Amino acid sequence: MAEALISVLLEQLASVVFEHTRQAVTLVLNAKEDVHSFSSNLKAIQAVLEDAEKKQVTEARVRDWLQNLKDVSYEMDDVLDEWNTEILKQQVEEGENAFVTKKKVRFPTPANCFCFGQVNKAIHHHNIARSIKKLNEKLTVIAAEKEKYDFHLSTIRGTDEQLIQRQKTSSLVDISTIFGREEEKEFLLSKLLRESNQDGGRFLVIPIVGMGGMGKTTLTQLAYNNEKVTAHFQKKVWVCISDPFDEIKIAKAIIESLDKNETQRSSNELETLLSCIKTHVEKKKFLLVLDDVWTEDKTKWESLKLSVILQSCEEGSTILVTTRKEGVAEMMRATSSMIHLDKLSYGDCLALFNSIAFFDREEDKANGFGAIGEEIVKKCKGLPLVAKTLGSLVWHKKTREEWQQVLNSKIWEIEEVEEQVFRPLLLSYYDLAPAVKRCLLYCATFPKDYELRKHKLIDLWMSQDYLNSKGKKEKRRIGQNYFESLSMRSFFQDFDKDCKGNIIACKMHDIVHDFVRFLAQKECIIIEAVQGNNKKMEPSGNKVCHLTLTSLPEGPLSFPISFDNCKSMRTLTLLGSSITNISPSSIMQMKCLRTLNLSGNSLHEVPKEIGELTHLRYMDLSDNRNLKELPDAVCDLYNLQTLVLVGCQYLQKLPKAMGKLINLKHLYVTGCYGLRYLPKGIGSLKSLQVLDCFYVCEGDDDEALKLGYLGIMDQLQVSLRIERLGGKDDASEIEKAQLGNKEHLSELAVRFEMQSLEQRKGDDEIVKALQPHQNLESLWIGFCQIGTTESLYWIKSLHNLRRVYLCNWQFCQLLPPFGKLPLLEILDIFRMGKVKKVGVEFLGIEEEEEEQVSGILFPKLKRLSFWDMANWEEWTFLSEITIMPRLSELHIRSCPKLKALPDFLYKIPALSTLKIVACPILGGEYEKGMGKEWHNISHIPNLTIQSE
Ligand SMILES: *[C@@H]1O[C@H](CO)[C@@H](O)[C@H](O)[C@H]1NC(C)=O
Ligand SMILES: *[C@@H]1O[C@H](CO)[C@@H](O)[C@H](O)[C@H]1NC(C)=O
Ligand SMILES: *[C@@H]1O[C@H](CO)[C@@H](O)[C@H](O)[C@H]1NC(C)=O
Ligand SMILES: *[C@@H]1O[C@H](CO)[C@@H](O)[C@H](O)[C@H]1NC(C)=O
Repeated sequence: MAEALISVLLEQLASVVFEHTRQAVTLVLNAKEDVHSFSSNLKAIQAVLEDAEKKQVTEARVRDWLQNLKDVSYEMDDVLDEWNTEILKQQVEEGENAFVTKKKVRFPTPANCFCFGQVNKAIHHHNIARSIKKLNEKLTVIAAEKEKYDFHLSTIRGTDEQLIQRQKTSSLVDISTIFGREEEKEFLLSKLLRESNQDGGRFLVIPIVGMGGMGKTTLTQLAYNNEKVTAHFQKKVWVCISDPFDEIKIAKAIIESLDKNETQRSSNELETLLSCIKTHVEKKKFLLVLDDVWTEDKTKWESLKLSVILQSCEEGSTILVTTRKEGVAEMMRATSSMIHLDKLSYGDCLALFNSIAFFDREEDKANGFGAIGEEIVKKCKGLPLVAKTLGSLVWHKKTREEWQQVLNSKIWEIEEVEEQVFRPLLLSYYDLAPAVKRCLLYCATFPKDYELRKHKLIDLWMSQDYLNSKGKKEKRRIGQNYFESLSMRSFFQDFDKDCKGNIIACKMHDIVHDFVRFLAQKECIIIEAVQGNNKKMEPSGNKVCHLTLTSLPEGPLSFPISFDNCKSMRTLTLLGSSITNISPSSIMQMKCLRTLNLSGNSLHEVPKEIGELTHLRYMDLSDNRNLKELPDAVCDLYNLQTLVLVGCQYLQKLPKAMGKLINLKHLYVTGCYGLRYLPKGIGSLKSLQVLDCFYVCEGDDDEALKLGYLGIMDQLQVSLRIERLGGKDDASEIEKAQLGNKEHLSELAVRFEMQSLEQRKGDDEIVKALQPHQNLESLWIGFCQIGTTESLYWIKSLHNLRRVYLCNWQFCQLLPPFGKLPLLEILDIFRMGKVKKVGVEFLGIEEEEEEQVSGILFPKLKRLSFWDMANWEEWTFLSEITIMPRLSELHIRSCPKLKALPDFLYKIPALSTLKIVACPILGGEYEKGMGKEWHNISHIPNLTIQSE
């Protein structure tokens, strides 16, 4: 994938800073010419790249040439990065000096030492300049070589198409190949025949969306040829749309299909063509199929004036569109009648496969072929195209051994699969922008069926510097756009969404994964360590860019491939491994690393050489339970953007100089309970957007970051957790922290120091000062020792609050007022031992107000839980008001004294789940068939009443 690499590199070259490094300028200035010459060489190469990428498929020497080009490009990228790092370093040092001077604690620097440092630096700059010179020489040779290959200059988009012949579809269908899809078929037919009155309007646009090979065209053909449909429409036209979207060609195709004799079809005037179409279909019921539409360009779509033409047709006319891109449906404003095609079930897939594989040789099924076939179908992962391809492949194979071979081979090594299955995917792939292609290919570093968390994926892309833009657009935003772009083209699927409907995780279809692995096979390698297998693998002499190792056993990290191949490695991920240490020499071999994931191992320490990985941007050391400290050298990673230490529970402290990590955007330290405090320097990190957990220091410590520092960290986003509140200064520190100003914070969790038995003083003051910004959506407060809820007065103003969790408030007698929060959806209350009665205070209204309350209380509440309320006896309510109309789940557990549920609950139609566990009194009242109150709740569909 040189294309994306080079376009990004060119941008970087264009923005190289020459003037910045003061002492260095003179030395580096002669590099300026080399950089210019490098850029112009690269531009000349870029012009033939498209052709080269295609030629490499068949020509080995072109492949080598491209590989050399990629190597040089990567090296240049590294050198530029080193240069930038040098600039960063200088900024940090200058900053530090300023800091030291201000504090007037400057120590005399031994003169010779100072000089030595300068000389070192000069040598380093000189080396950078020399590397650039060398790389330029190499690239000049490569650029000259390109003449040998007779490349064509690229034209604008659309040429990709010649590479892969697009299969023309037609409206003829082989009925025998339709399996599954009954539901979709019924739905589609009822829409076409307008069986429901809801599909109002004169005409409908129905998009059928799904990834390549999912059977969109097949389904459409089936509907198109259906007898009822044929009788229903007076005119039917099927057009296979090509990319680029050419209005004239499309119009001509429609006319040709309407009337072979039509003389107008030779015209090149769109208007003429369109009015010709109109005369043919006017006042008729017209069905138009546009197969395989790619364009999302509204102007092109609108210039076809189909809506004008359809207006003149008889009511009920329809346009059916198949596409891989949801964006097409959006562009046509037809998402409401969209049909999504998903995977076939195993059974349907098997039936489809069998119908082809055993065509005319039914008797073989019982002869052992059937069993192999069943295994082969598992590889199809519900994709009909693969089932068809493999089915026809084995149909030609006469022996069981041959079938077994197909089963044993990697799916992308089967030539037929490459040709027929990857081809449709390749079309989707070529449709992506170069930068998005890179992001997709990076997913080849994950194993099959791996759940991709969206925010992590974006962090990873960022760490590889894939998310650049010319403007000032925020990288995360760009990452989100790329993610969407891949999702809408069905490269991602199985979405997991949060309560607001935002995608938080996804997977790749197995075939898409195979496809991506196929494209990135040279750069991304996944190796599973097999016990007792110490043989070094040689991945065909290629330099590995991204390496994923899985299941490494206990012991030191050892590479199953030789170091030589790893030297320019940019990603190292260990999955499901348990290495205990990593040697300094291994680290020194990976100097180009951008991304390092050592999560979930048993590392005892991280060697100080880690500081040499100056390109590193993402480091995940989470869940290394034996890790007690990090070397100070971590603070030399000036490019580091993300540091993940979640769950390193024995980590005792973080390096003091963390203020030097001027690019740090995300610091994740939740679950590092061994940390006594966060170092002060973190407070000065201007780039820091995510600090997921703050540890309040017990006692005084000069080096500790005080809570009050949060006051100057307005840039913090998403979520913050504060641990160990309750100290005597905390109220004033929280006040300084000004949580009320953090408008980008949507989740806040605070946990007070546990310490029970006696009520701690000062919690009221702390709670008062906690008042967050009203944009807050989720609030968690634990172990708070307030006696009344007065200090929580601000809760009523949090109009955006959706989730609240309260736990272990051992001294509070009443619940806080939640009833008027307009968006509250989830409320969980655990262990409020002093609460005896829940009444109007919970609704958020005053006793005397009772009479005049109007409106609805808890209007959006969906889930409510009460756990471990040892003294709770009574739950009263007001009969005149509507309460919790949307409640669908109620859980009550271990509330031994609670006598009854309030009547209003019986009448909530939405309530579908009620679970009462370990509540002896309630358990008796509501006992199935026996209890006095049973009839009041027996209508609830999902009902559980258990004694334990
Ligand atoms: C086209 O022209 C041929 C010969 O002139 C004629 O037989 C045929 O019916 C025409 N078809 C239509 C659809 O007008
Ligand atoms: C890092 O590795 C851990 C497990 O080893 C995995 O759960 C996590 O998703 C990985 N992180 C990324 C960003 O790939
Ligand atoms: C609950 O059920 C009992 C017995 O069926 C009935 O007498 C009582 O009125 C019901 N309560 C409500 C509020 O419907
Ligand atoms: C039934 O209740 C359980 C919890 O008690 C819940 O996990 C499950 O999703 C509920 N089922 C339905 C169909 O609502």
